[in-house]
Amino acid sequence: MAETATNRVFLLAERPDGVPDADTFELVERDVPELSDGDVLVRTLYLSVDPYMRGRMRDRESYADPWALDEPLEGGVVGEVVESNHAAFERGDAVVGNLQWAEYAAAAGEDLRPVDPDLAPLSTHLGVLGMPGRTAYFGLLRVGDPEPGDTVVVSAASGAVGSVVGQLARIAGCRVVGFAGSDEKATYLTDELGFDAAINYETADDYAAALDDVAPGGVDVYFDNVGGPITDAVFTRLNEGARVAVCGQISLYNEESVPTGPRKLGTLIQTRARVEGFLVGDFASDFETATRRLGEWVDAGEIRYRETIAEGLESAPDAFLALFEGDKIGKQLVKVADRAAE
Ligand SMILES: NC(=O)c1ccc[n+]([C@@H]2O[C@H](COP(=O)([O-])OP(=O)(O)OC[C@H]3O[C@@H](n4cnc5c(N)ncnc54)[C@H](OP(=O)(O)O)[C@@H]3O)[C@@H](O)[C@H]2O)c1
Repeated sequence: MAETATNRVFLLAERPDGVPDADTFELVERDVPELSDGDVLVRTLYLSVDPYMRGRMRDRESYADPWALDEPLEGGVVGEVVESNHAAFERGDAVVGNLQWAEYAAAAGEDLRPVDPDLAPLSTHLGVLGMPGRTAYFGLLRVGDPEPGDTVVVSAASGAVGSVVGQLARIAGCRVVGFAGSDEKATYLTDELGFDAAINYETADDYAAALDDVAPGGVDVYFDNVGGPITDAVFTRLNEGARVAVCGQISLYNEESVPTGPRKLGTLIQTRARVEGFLVGDFASDFETATRRLGEWVDAGEIRYRETIAEGLESAPDAFLALFEGDKIGKQLVKVADRAAE
């Protein structure tokens, strides 16, 4: 049994209209779950908040099912096993899985993956060595298809995915330009991550002109995390044969309808550019290879990462909202508890 009989859990209290707020979430006390055969009880150490969760707040069919009202929210969790009815896990093991926004959650053993706490900090399994890192790896290398000497542009470049994309592009021998939302983030990209240039889209008046300054030869690969006006501008600067990897459209996630505007698709006729959306899950069969290679680059100091860590389960809503208008850098996480097992 768990050391405690109560458990705090976040529920979806209402479906937001526009930007979510405190009313979207409700923190309740529940019993620690009972285990069935094959189940494992996990104590949450770190919870990941991710932009795709905004889509799950809508009652609309998508690649991730909508969350039900008054039911627990879910997300990537690194935790430690408290109790196990599954032969592959024992108390104290560190695991990663998709679990509830809660202090304790039960999961079928098959849905958990063991992680070695001695190989890398546990939090990295939700960031640079986790889903966001793998998204960057496959989205850039398989969809963006960069060649040495290419100019690669990435939006939301200081975030969990974008920061890894830019560094992978640099490793691939490309010139790298990032869009980010503050001078501090832009400086982080150029001074710490080795981007060739960064554009602060909050202060730049004309994104296409800003691109002309830092990428006068045009854009060969665009890794799109945001959509909206940044993407419109990059489309006007694509080179012949350019590749656009459409990873996310975060600038539109809080819109109830997609705004119309000047159409940029004519550029694709002239440039014969390829625009391709992808989901990281499409590459599941190669996840192990990607994680191993990312780990090697991190160990060698070729990929650097930052984490912004909010303290306590109760901070999860604010941490989620920081994805849309915060000053966080790198991967946004919530630290829920310290590890008990050593
Ligand atoms: N296709 C897939 O399989 C897959 C998997 C994972 C993630 N994604 C997508 O990848 C993107 C990045 O995800 P992430 O986890 O790495 O998040 P993140 O970049 O760590 O956080 C989101 C960032 O988006 C930027 N942003 C927010 N609103 C914006 C706006 N209106 N215009 C421009 N930038 C804005 C913010 O940075 P600034 O301060 O720079 O604005 C913010 O830090 C998201 O669109 C996400 O949905 C897709």
